[in-house]
Amino acid sequence: MTQKRILSGMQPTNNLHLGNYLGALKNWVALQEEGAECLYCIVDLHAITMPQDPDDLRRSTREIAAGYIACGIDPTQSIIFPQSMVAGHSQLMWLLATMTQVGKLNRMTQFKDKAGKNAEKAGLGLYAYPVLMAADILLYKATHVPVGDDQKQHLELAREIASTFNHRYKQEFFVPPAPYIMGEATRVMSLRDGTQKMSKSAESDMSRINLIDDADTIAKKIRKAKTDAAPLPETIKDLENRPEAKNLITIYASLLDKTSQEVLTELAGKQFSEFKPLLVDVAVAHLAPITARMNDLMRDVSEIDKILKDGAEKANALAEPVVRETMDIMGFLINKARF
Ligand code: AMP
Ligand code: TRP
Repeated sequence: MTQKRILSGMQPTNNLHLGNYLGALKNWVALQEEGAECLYCIVDLHAITMPQDPDDLRRSTREIAAGYIACGIDPTQSIIFPQSMVAGHSQLMWLLATMTQVGKLNRMTQFKDKAGKNAEKAGLGLYAYPVLMAADILLYKATHVPVGDDQKQHLELAREIASTFNHRYKQEFFVPPAPYIMGEATRVMSLRDGTQKMSKSAESDMSRINLIDDADTIAKKIRKAKTDAAPLPETIKDLENRPEAKNLITIYASLLDKTSQEVLTELAGKQFSEFKPLLVDVAVAHLAPITARMNDLMRDVSEIDKILKDGAEKANALAEPVVRETMDIMGFLINKARF
């Protein structure tokens, strides 16, 4: 078996929230601890598919790096870098864009959600977003991509693009990446509406728990989280039509590394008025050290900048030969040139 190579990324837009942590980051740390070769990028080129203020982009890029590190990604074990510092991402994207069918891009639900009703006015970058994501992954021949449930469709496209290339050039060059959708909380929902994903871009800050929220804010958000009037049931099946209750149980279970069923077995019969304080305690105990470490790191960004620069150098050393080889296979005279 070939060695596992892990790649994943998050956009430097707004704050990291509990969905990012439970759906992705917590799993990234677990993979690092397993000893896999891990690359974790901050996908700043993806961020600009929506307009970004330059100062905000700079701050967010560092903040996401601080978030990765505070959650347990260790720069001496994993490669942490901003996507834009490795030219190969943009270079490979163009090559892959030429073999991506627009029909497939038209079916991407994230584009439809983000472009909204006025898709004609959406930027080309937003439309091509999944091709850049495929490039991020194929550039390193990553075997596994740990993401939340919402990214499944993008991963499927990356696999298809890899196969198209391999088929067209008659060789198994790119590795079709496997999605790694791990843990209890693959889709953390909004605290205000259990049918909507917890998201960075949702208008109400009360809908999410940010990794930089202090204990009082977390407590207030959980106290005000939408629930229903029934007590907690005995089995997961009984949560089926109770999305808000299901979400809070999933969050609680995931924070404690338990299954939802284990938690229900313990808590069946309790009212939300009894359960919510338990959830507050667990969330605060879990997030307070992360918040403190993030704030610490953000006080002196020179350390973060150095980690990102070192990470980018390592990533670039892996990426450059792959771009060259791809271009060579396609018939470019790249090996006659330097870049
Ligand atoms: P984004 O916030 O869109 O940059 O997403 C970064 C990572 O967090 C991706 O792997 C997402 O799948 C994951 N993620 C984002 N929101 C959620 C959520 N509400 N529940 C679970 N995972 C999420
Ligand atoms: N599209 C992902 C998201 O919104 C972010 C992303 C970009 C990504 N490139 C990636 C995730 C490569 C995994 C691998 O969450």
